[in-house]
Amino acid sequence: MGVEANIKALRDELEQHNYNYYVLSTPTISDREFDEKMKELQALEEANPEFADPHSPTQRVGSDLSKEFEQVVHQYPMLSLGNTYSEDEIRDFYERTERALNEPFEIVAELKYDGTSISLIYENGRLVRAVTRGDGTRGDDVTANVKTIRSVPLKLRGDNYPANFEIRGEILLPWAEFDRLNKEREEQEEPLFANPRNAASGTLKQQNPAIVASRKLDAYFYYLLGEVLPADGHYENLQIARTWGFKIPDVIRKCGSLQDIFDYIAYWDAERKNLPVATDGIVLKVNSLRQQKNLGFTAKSPRWAIAYKFQAERAVTRLNSVSFQVGRTGAVTPVANLEPVLLAGTTVKRASLHNADIIEGLDLHLGDNVYVEKGGEIIPKIVGVDIDSRSMLLGAKVTFIKSCPECGTPLYRPEGEAAHYCPNESGCPPQIKGRIEHFVTRRAMNINIGPETVEDLFNAGLVKNVADLYTLEIPDLLRLERWAEKSARNLMTSLEESKQVPFERVLFGLGIRYVGETVAKRLASAFHSMKQLEEASLETLTEVDEIGERIARSVVDYFADEENRTLVARLEEYGLQMTVAEEVLANRSDKLKGLSIVISGTFTLHSRDEYKAMIEQHGGKNSGSVSGKTDYILAGENMGPAKLEKAAKLGVKIINENEFLNMLAE
Ligand code: IVH
Repeated sequence: MGVEANIKALRDELEQHNYNYYVLSTPTISDREFDEKMKELQALEEANPEFADPHSPTQRVGSDLSKEFEQVVHQYPMLSLGNTYSEDEIRDFYERTERALNEPFEIVAELKYDGTSISLIYENGRLVRAVTRGDGTRGDDVTANVKTIRSVPLKLRGDNYPANFEIRGEILLPWAEFDRLNKEREEQEEPLFANPRNAASGTLKQQNPAIVASRKLDAYFYYLLGEVLPADGHYENLQIARTWGFKIPDVIRKCGSLQDIFDYIAYWDAERKNLPVATDGIVLKVNSLRQQKNLGFTAKSPRWAIAYKFQAERAVTRLNSVSFQVGRTGAVTPVANLEPVLLAGTTVKRASLHNADIIEGLDLHLGDNVYVEKGGEIIPKIVGVDIDSRSMLLGAKVTFIKSCPECGTPLYRPEGEAAHYCPNESGCPPQIKGRIEHFVTRRAMNINIGPETVEDLFNAGLVKNVADLYTLEIPDLLRLERWAEKSARNLMTSLEESKQVPFERVLFGLGIRYVGETVAKRLASAFHSMKQLEEASLETLTEVDEIGERIARSVVDYFADEENRTLVARLEEYGLQMTVAEEVLANRSDKLKGLSIVISGTFTLHSRDEYKAMIEQHGGKNSGSVSGKTDYILAGENMGPAKLEKAAKLGVKIINENEFLNMLAE
């Protein structure tokens, strides 16, 4: 087989496996075999760039990024649906339709998926564009991000699809993935997503498709549009679209009567709890496209469809007390302790009160009967107080505490922030323990201990900061409960191994506010060593790409603290990696020293991130916008017209990928 045929065969095979896995949920090969085939294809494509294809399954990994989203006008406006919570209004809708059509009709019932809507344009069986709803008239072009969603076909199956059509659906983050993501964010003390809908739309608007790819979004489709469609029935069209490779929900039903509709609602109101994705109602549509046309639209929504929304489940219960929790960064979170109550299938005992403003807004008093709701949110929230049921003996008003519940230090609230913090970083137990727990996590130092052990070591006075971990000795541990020779020795090995963990992860492990994994990597590659980072000024820090004022200030503040400097010095003394490894530095040069280079457009040989890294690795500076200081623009395809114009005006030299790579090879 020739190379081209080989590439094509691999592409087809991988697309088939993608389809089996993501659409049919019945994989026929192991993940490992899949990855191996993918690697094989990647290697072939890299070696034979003349056979590149933007629709190849390798392009789903999302290695290139388009900085700003372009706005696209929708061919058919993306309207919303009329909403109702009442079965009476469903009856009105049905009878209105009956009167208006004056002929037999069918109603299609579907689930209303609670994600973010998307419009996909296909031309000759290829995905050409994916656009968000936006304001209904125009939306953001998020094609690069949508291409990373494995269940979205880049190339259609079969050959009976129209040459041009649009399909709409919902992008969703499955519950399991949502839970995983929030858990990860909790560990990093990043703000949690309130519900899968916010998580899905936030993810879709990410600038970096590689992040989107890592989040495992899914997409369900429910609306086919175009001048020429296979059938007159909406239902029939969706069944056909399924054969083209789209994930069309198989819970769609035709209803012959109002009773059928009510049965469907009742069934799914209960059964939806077992679905892998969030739903918030059902949608009813007149099936025939001809009849839909006759019924037409109001200014905002179609007359041929209506959405019935499920009632968010709500319960009334008593507010017993409010407690305040202190996290690793000192942020204080108020939590309502409730009389246990059954809500949406689980017993609710606690609800987050978020911050002082929310407490004030609710005018909460101890002993109040409060309304607790669990809508799309997973953490139940208090939505109101049953004022009428308050007795003469009104309980004490709930106010935010003034000092730390753990160490007594007065709290402060930074200007413009909703949260209160305990400033006693070095003496407040949950902050100390939290920092140690963060330091030992897998993604940082990967030291084999959990929160309970951290607690024990702290309580025994053996470990008061992360450096103390390296002073532990086996006899110390054996004096504690639950420790035996073997587990003690394991910890020693794990500590020893952590001394080989690369510098960027040591930096991440310190838990400097706003220095997450990505920022730690950037800082490591810009400064090469802890020493240089320690000495960096606010100005030098903000010059680094993607390091803003907020992060820079946090780093400067961290190293301004004597205690932190001592801690870092001790870690160095114990043998932790405090510089970027030699091998990494060996690939560096000064070839681009003093040059400021702007990257624009999309590339075929390397990803944008790779070019960025190359510029930095060879001493150049990658900057975001063209100015008088720009030396070169590294231009790929589709460079923005504004940038082109500016470059011409300023006389900045434009180079392509090959010219750039030649500069490095010289
Ligand atoms: S049909 C013109 N069907 O609900 C009507 N929409 O308020 C086009 N949605 O923006 C929409 N599930 O994001 C339709 N089965 C379904 C749906 C659905 C969820 C969303 C969609 C739309 C909103 C309407």
